[in-house]
Amino acid sequence: MQDQTITRKNIRSMMDRFYSQVLKDEIVADFFIDKLGDEMISDEWQGHLDLLSDFWASTILSETSYKGQPVKPHIHMEGLQRVTFERWLELFFETVDKYYTKESADIFKTRSQSIANNFMRVLGI
Ligand code: HEM
Repeated sequence: MQDQTITRKNIRSMMDRFYSQVLKDEIVADFFIDKLGDEMISDEWQGHLDLLSDFWASTILSETSYKGQPVKPHIHMEGLQRVTFERWLELFFETVDKYYTKESADIFKTRSQSIANNFMRVLGI
């Protein structure tokens, strides 16, 4: 069932689903496997899922739990292209549509698209 309300709890479970799809994807998986390995139960992956839950909760719910620098790790990633971002967004949109009703899903879509555009601008791609 889709949630109408975005909560910390459903963000965390949405992250689990999103990254399990990412790990199966031909275009984006290798970027994550290079940094975090291919086992989502590992400490590295669980740390990433917690961090990204903080990121989205801070972005959308105005929490202050995320204090990182989101652009930084992407700057040093070899081989990132527009198609990589396009595919990432496609998977993310599919996931948010599964989890949330339209109004809430649209909030994630608008924010992720604008952050991805910003990353691409910084990366010059
Ligand atoms: C081309 C698509 C993308 C790829 C392949 C990618 C890959 C990664 C990887 C591998 C990490 C972990 C880096 C590490 O731990 O060393 C990471 C971190 C992160 N990504 Fe992405 N990413 C992509 C797009 C995005 C987008 C569009 C967003 C936001 C909407 C995003 C938000 C973040 C954040 C917040 C972090 C954590 C940064 C920190 O260390 O504080 N990523 N990404």
